[in-house]
Order: sequence, then structure tokens, then C-alpha cells
Amino acid sequence: MAETILSGIRPTGNLHLGHYCGAISQLVELQNKGSYDNFFVMIADAQALTDNAKNVDKVKNNVIQVAIDLISAGIDPNKVTIFIQSQVPQLHEMTDYFLNLVTLSRLKRNPTVKEELKQRGFENSLPVGFLTYPVSQAADILAFSTTLVPAGDDQNPMLEQCREIVHTFNSTYASIFTMPKIMLPSSKTQARLPGLDGKLKMSKSAGNGINLCDDEATVKQKIMNAYTDPNHIKVSDPGQIEGNVVFTYLDVFCKDEHFAKYLPDYKNLAELKEHYRRGGLGDVKVKIFLNNILQELLTPIRAKRAELENNIDNVYDMLFENGKKMRKIAQAKIEQMHDAMGINYLKYRK
Ligand code: TRP
Repeated sequence: MAETILSGIRPTGNLHLGHYCGAISQLVELQNKGSYDNFFVMIADAQALTDNAKNVDKVKNNVIQVAIDLISAGIDPNKVTIFIQSQVPQLHEMTDYFLNLVTLSRLKRNPTVKEELKQRGFENSLPVGFLTYPVSQAADILAFSTTLVPAGDDQNPMLEQCREIVHTFNSTYASIFTMPKIMLPSSKTQARLPGLDGKLKMSKSAGNGINLCDDEATVKQKIMNAYTDPNHIKVSDPGQIEGNVVFTYLDVFCKDEHFAKYLPDYKNLAELKEHYRRGGLGDVKVKIFLNNILQELLTPIRAKRAELENNIDNVYDMLFENGKKMRKIAQAKIEQMHDAMGINYLKYRK
């Protein structure tokens, strides 16, 4: 059976390299494999509002930016339907009925939500909508009969909750929902790119990332300031690779052909690392090499972005049309849901 793929992303900031290698490159790969019936990417603005209710502008300004980032980074709008969550109000109705099938204690046990609550420091100010967003996420997935959800491992608990909802709904009413599966990134490094400051994760809130929309000079400057080995002071000092952000990025982005092009004194990354460990290789040289590699990746993304920004109405038109298309699919599912639940009393009264 061919898959229906859906992924979602909260529009709370510009996308960065962490998103690129953790999520977007996986989506692009899947898109190009072509073994699916439908491929949807949702910009989850309603979910982003669950902890930004008084900060609508932050979400609003990023919706179109995220759409631009996705397309610039290789998502092909002819193959993938990019849409905005709030354009599909059926999702809210579906969420409402699902909420009756989930207990409060189950919601409080969701490990990702627990972690987020800790980070955000909600104590007595926890918005109900935030606690229940995993249920609304189940609606995002089920409204479009999704079978496969590409996502990071932090989304595992969401999928687990979604699967429980499928089970409860199907056994309580009628089997109208199929069990979705998560699809995790293929490698660990890709799953979590560290920040430029050496912190575990690149994130918009920590401001330690390279954004896909950063200009050439900004990217270079960020790389030049990146965390390496604090004990590698003189060029002649032996250096450490572990925890050295520049080498971690090279592990992810560098290919042998980059050496021939930008650093022909070495054949491959193993040789470069060996020299760094031994001593005699300065950080600047390695950073310039990384900068060349990342600029090569980001230059076409930037060019595509400029092109989209010059024709911004096309992006809005696309989102508008895709909203219509997704409403239609979700409405059909809502009607199945009404039938299953027996709340279709007026169905034949047209
Ligand atoms: N929770 C996801 C995130 O924080 C975003 C999201 C919303 C999502 N709805 C989804 C992901 C449906 C996958 C499927 O990134």
C-alpha cells in the first residue's frame, strides 16, 4: 500500500540548519523517492499558538517565512501540499470529540509535554490548550488518513497518543481510522545537530544556529565564532575532535569531493581529523573549509528564497488553494466520524 505522508512544523522562527538536516532533508529524500499517494506538510500555526496566545505576531510573521524556507530548501510544491493548520477548521471539531476519549492523567504523562512544561516554567499558568495539543496533533494526523509521519524522536509520544486515540475511537464507535507510524531520521547526528556554541541542540530560542535565510557574511561570521576545543590555543597544540562543533558539522555535511575542491592537501575527513589531533592544524583553516561547504549548500537555498520573495503572491495563492484542498479531505473524514458516532441525524434532510 502506498503511504499518505504528513509532517508538521511550528512556525515560531526561521528554519535553521538543524531543521535542514533533521527534518527537511529527510522530507526531500522521501519526496523524491515518490512511493506515496499523498504528501502533506502542515505549518502548525494553531499548535504554535497554544503557548503563544498573546504573541500572535510571532506566529503570524513566521507562517509565510516557513513556507518560503521549506520550498527554498527543496520541498517541491508540485509534489508536496504545504498548508496552514488554521485554514482547516475541521481539525478543531475532530479534536473536540477526541478530547472525550483521553484522560487528563494520560495527557499529564506525555513525556514531551512534561519536558516542555518544565522548559516554559508554566506552574499555575498552564494553558489548557497547551496540555491538550497532543490530541489536536492526533487530529492533524488522522483527518487526512495519514499512514506515515516523518518526525524527530521527541514526537514519539505524540504518535503513541495518536495511536491510542485510534484504538479507542475505532473500538468505541467504528473502525474509520488507520494506525499511523512515525518515521525517524536515519542517523543520530542528523537527528540532532548541536548549536554553534557547543550546546546539545541547535535551537531558535538559544540563538545558536545558522538560519537558512542568513546571508553569506553572517554565516561566515557565525562559523568563525563557533565553539571548537578550548584547549587548542596554539596551532601546534594537539586538538580534540569530540565535542568540537566544527568537526561535528563536518561529519554531517562534508563529502570527500569537498577536499579536492576546497582543501586538496587532504584526501578525506579522517586525514584532517588525524592532523588536528596530532597538532599543527589551526581552527581557522578548518573553519574556512566548513564555511566553503556550508555556503555551497546555502547559496542555492538563498537564491530560491529571493525568487520566492519577489513573487510572494504565488506563495500566498498556493497556501490558499492548498487550504481548500485540505478542508475538503478533512470534511469527508468528519462526515465519516459523524456516521461512526451516530451524530448524523440530519444527514438525509437536504
Ligand atoms: N509537534 C510538532 C513540532 O513541534 C508539530 C506538529 C503539529 C506535527 N502537528 C503535527 C508534526 C502533525 C507531525 C504531525 O514540531
